[in-house]
This record gives sequence, C-alpha cells and structure tokens, in this order.
Amino acid sequence: MARLDPHSYADASHPQTRTLRWKARVDFERRVLDAEATLVFAAPGEGVIDLDTRALAVQSVVDDAGRALPFTLDAPDGVLGARLSVTLPSPTGSITVRYRTSPEATALQWLTPEQTAGKKAPFLFSQCQAIHARSVVPLQDTPRVRITFEAELTVPANLRALMAAAFVKRAVEGDVAVESYAMPQPVPPYLFAFAVGDVVFRDVGPRSRVWAEAAVVEAAAWEFAEIDAHLAVGERLFGPYDWDRFDVLVMPPSFPYGGMENPRLTFLTPTLLAGDRSQVRVVSHELAHSWTGNLITNANAEHFWLNEGWTRYAELRIVEATEGVEAGALHAALGRRGLDRAIERFVKEGRPELTKLRTHLAGVDPDDAFSEVPYDKGCLFILALEAHVGRARFERFIRAYIETFRFGAITTEDFLAFTERELPGALAAIDAPAWIDGHGVPANAPASKSALLDAIGALGARVPDADTAARWSPTEWQLYLEAMPDTVTRETAEALDARYHLTQKSAYEILVAWLLVAVRAGYEPALPRAESLLGEVGRMKYLKPLYRALMDRADTAPIARRAFARHAASYHPIARMVIAPIVG
Ligand code: BES
Ligand code: ZN
Repeated sequence: MARLDPHSYADASHPQTRTLRWKARVDFERRVLDAEATLVFAAPGEGVIDLDTRALAVQSVVDDAGRALPFTLDAPDGVLGARLSVTLPSPTGSITVRYRTSPEATALQWLTPEQTAGKKAPFLFSQCQAIHARSVVPLQDTPRVRITFEAELTVPANLRALMAAAFVKRAVEGDVAVESYAMPQPVPPYLFAFAVGDVVFRDVGPRSRVWAEAAVVEAAAWEFAEIDAHLAVGERLFGPYDWDRFDVLVMPPSFPYGGMENPRLTFLTPTLLAGDRSQVRVVSHELAHSWTGNLITNANAEHFWLNEGWTRYAELRIVEATEGVEAGALHAALGRRGLDRAIERFVKEGRPELTKLRTHLAGVDPDDAFSEVPYDKGCLFILALEAHVGRARFERFIRAYIETFRFGAITTEDFLAFTERELPGALAAIDAPAWIDGHGVPANAPASKSALLDAIGALGARVPDADTAARWSPTEWQLYLEAMPDTVTRETAEALDARYHLTQKSAYEILVAWLLVAVRAGYEPALPRAESLLGEVGRMKYLKPLYRALMDRADTAPIARRAFARHAASYHPIARMVIAPIVG
C-alpha cells in the first residue's frame, strides 16, 4: 500500500484516473443527484482500485464491457469518508459507478427560493475544496491525481447549470435541460465545481463575464468591471493565462467563502458587492490562483501554504500594480494583523503546530486546520525570499517555478529543493526552516512601511476626528478597527458609533470589523445587528470571529447559541461543521 495523501484512500500502486465522464440529474425535491461516473484510467488496470466517497449510495460498478465488478463500501471514517474498493479481475480501461448523493453531501448546498435574491427559484452549488469532491463523485480525491472531465447536468428547464469548465451545449427536452461541459486541462478534483440556479450574465471584457441572479447582476457587473485589466496584470507577472476565460459567478449569501478559484468560473460571495470596488482584491486573489494553485497545486492539504501563500503574494502584487504601492502596504498590513490574531488564537487553544507553514494533518480535517497562517505567513516567507534576492531576480524565479511545475502537484520539499537549485543559499540566508517548521512569525519577517499606516497606528484606540475619517479609504477604516486592542472601552465604542454610524454600515468588511470591536467592548446597541448578520451571510470569514467574540462573553454567549440554533440549517454544511464546536 502506498497512500498518496493523508486525506485520501487513493493508492499509488492502483490504476490512476485520467478522465472523468460524469452525468448527473439534479433532483431539487429530494435534494439528491442521481449520477453515473465513468473513471477512465491512464492505462488499463487490474487488481484493486480504492476510491474516496462520502455519504454516497453506490448502486453498481461495471467495467468497460458493462460487466458487473465486485465492490465493497467500508464504514465511513470521520475525516476521510468511506473507502470504495473495486476489484478488477481482468484489465479494464475504465469503470462506471452508478450512485446517488445524499441530501447531507458535504460539498453541496441546496437552497430554497427564499435563500436566493430572486426568491422564486431554488439554487444548488458545490464547494469541493479541500476534500468534499468525494461527496459528489466517487474518485481518487487527491491533487496528486489530476483529471480532465466531460460532464452533463440535467436540470429543470427554467434554470441554468453552470460548471467550472468550457461550455459545450444546452439542450432542452420537455421540462428539463441538459447542459454539457468539458474540462480539457487536467485539474485536481477539488476544482470540480458546478451551480444550478436562475442566473443571467453580463460580459465585462473579451475574456470575462459576470454571472449572477438578475436582481444583483448589474451591481456585480459594475463592481467587477476591472477584471480584464487584472487578468492582464496576472499575465505580466506569471505568464500566459492557460484557462481561456475568466468568468465569475456571484453566489447567494450563504456561500461559505469570499471566493473559490474554480477554473474558468470563480465563485464569489455577494458580500463583495460593497458599491465601491474595494473588494475586487478578492477577485484578483482567485484570478491569481489560475497560476498558483490551479497550475501548480499543493500535493495535499499539509502543503496548503504553497497554494495560498503564493496566491496572497500574487494578490498583493496585483493590488500594487492596480492601486499603487501605498495601497499595497496597507493591504499587507491588514494581512499581518489577521495573521497575528490567528497565531494568538492557536497558541491560546494549545495548537501551536498549526502556526507552522508545513503542517501534519493525518487524522485532522483540513477545514478544522484552516486559518490565515498559510496565507499570510506563507506570503511573508515569499516576501522575505524576494527581499533577499531582489525583485528582478525573483521575477525570473517565479517564471521558472511556474514553467517547471505547471499542471503538477508539489510538496514543500519539492519547493525547497527547486528554490535551492535556482537561488542557491537564499533559503539559509532567510532561515527557511524557522518559517517552514517553526512556530509563529520569525523576527526577520518583512514589515509594511507607509505613512498612512503610521498615522493609523498613532491613533491607537482614540476616535478619529471628522477630517481624518473623511479621508480614509475602506482599507484604512478596516485597519483602524482591526488594530484596536481587545480592551477598547464601551465609551469609546459608543463615541465611535455616534460619530460614524458604524452599526449601519453596509460594506461587510468594515461592518464586521466594527461589530467585533463593539461586541468585545460590551456595546450592546450593536448586538441586534451582530445577531441579524449571523442569519444573513454564510461567509465563514465573518461568521467564525463573530461567533467567537460573542461566545467569549458570558452576557453575549446566549446570542451566539440562539443564532446558531436558528440559522445552522441554512448554512453550508462546511460552515455548520466548523461553527458547531465554537458554540458547542
Ligand atoms: N481557495 C480559497 C478558499 C478555500 C480555502 C476553500 C480552503 C476551501 C478550503 C480561496 O482562494 C480563498 O482563499 N478565498 C479567500 C479570499 C481572500 C484570501 C482574498 C476567502 O474566501 O476569503
Ligand atoms: Zn486562495
């Protein structure tokens, strides 16, 4: 046995899937997919093949001649799901599994019409990263096994089926529509993604289109009008864009992330629609994954920093190029603030090992290990490397890195060996082991420098005067609020709200940063808004800290418990799973 990944039953000695042919009928009534998955192997294989599944009801498995194959579906492991072992008595080029998903599939969220902007049609979407693809398709669910795919979704004819893949055709047959897609580039299974709903589009550039429900599509097209310009910056930094198109889909509010880099069709939270284009950075981040993550992929969740640290770095470069160096410095400072808080929390919780870049996650659910560490400590490590060798040399290094590993999956060790070869001595000079295997942030971490930042720092927990506040960008507001000490008094919170009406803000980044300050300060007039927010959005970046802050105080913990009891059923299964222990 040679496991490829601590989070998969896939075995290096078994046949490897190269292509998936998938057909699924979407049943909104029963909340299931009736599906058929054909796994085509890189070479005909025999013996045993182990697949990952979670909560799938397997009806049959046949070989390429249609002969039934013996299979066993093990009892599920809490983290991995259930192993599906199929025996191939003679060489076969492919196997076909007929199965049904569960209404509890962890990748899927089935929304009622009331949970959408239009309130008329249901909505369904998938979120497969890190290890949820197995709840939708039985496959070798590890980035080590990249697949191309062809897919056919049968949906109610009044809805569209979108996939993170190239559109092939839509055929209406009576009251259903069959939509076909193809992904010709090999991708890791966590990038398998689809959504079904009453959505329309606006083109915002030759290579980019914004999809959303009709009620929000105009606002979304305005907010993301700059996508094409960002694509050009990405290409200048990282080389040719390999995925043909960069479309985005604005999801219903329960989408659990800010964005998800599904190839050709990034999924975005509607909380980005701030009305000022300030959150385009999230789109730049997902775009940057087109190179770092989707082209070069972490070999498994223990090397997640390779995906997110690199992408955070790229995001920062795009912010710098499109908004200027000063904006970049402020953006980096926000990242540092979030990182320091995450580290503080892990130390307090007695899990300091999660402050390392390279983690050890056997038996640990990647969703439980998720934090800012791989993002912002990863980014600082890359910035330290860049600072040591200089930007010009580092840019050549980036190009070589992408050229060498494109369409591959790599580990931290692969990255370090490559870096040593290309930039000899640089890793030792910046003490890479302290970054990779050490706790916390090494003292040689690069720090952002900016006069604006200094001004905010000098203010501390004092209330800014009207002139200062009027000049602040959304990022400066956010930095000011996020840099506030946990000891802010109720009086300060009250003065801030009286002067700047923060509880009424509609831009979520500022609103949530404020609500955290207000809750910690015991400023009760903000509590109803904190509570309503918990039922209005499903983005974990907001839910987790708000639930934590409420639970931290005896007088507000009941609000958190009440909100979770009321709203858990309308959260995505992943959000429900990570928030339950916070309120538990
Ligand atoms: N790939 C991540 C989202 C993700 C991570 C999903 C781990 C599942 C498991 C995405 O690229 C991301 O990082 N999104 C951020 C955006 C931010 C860093 C700009 C988010 O959701 O907030
Ligand atoms: Zn990311």
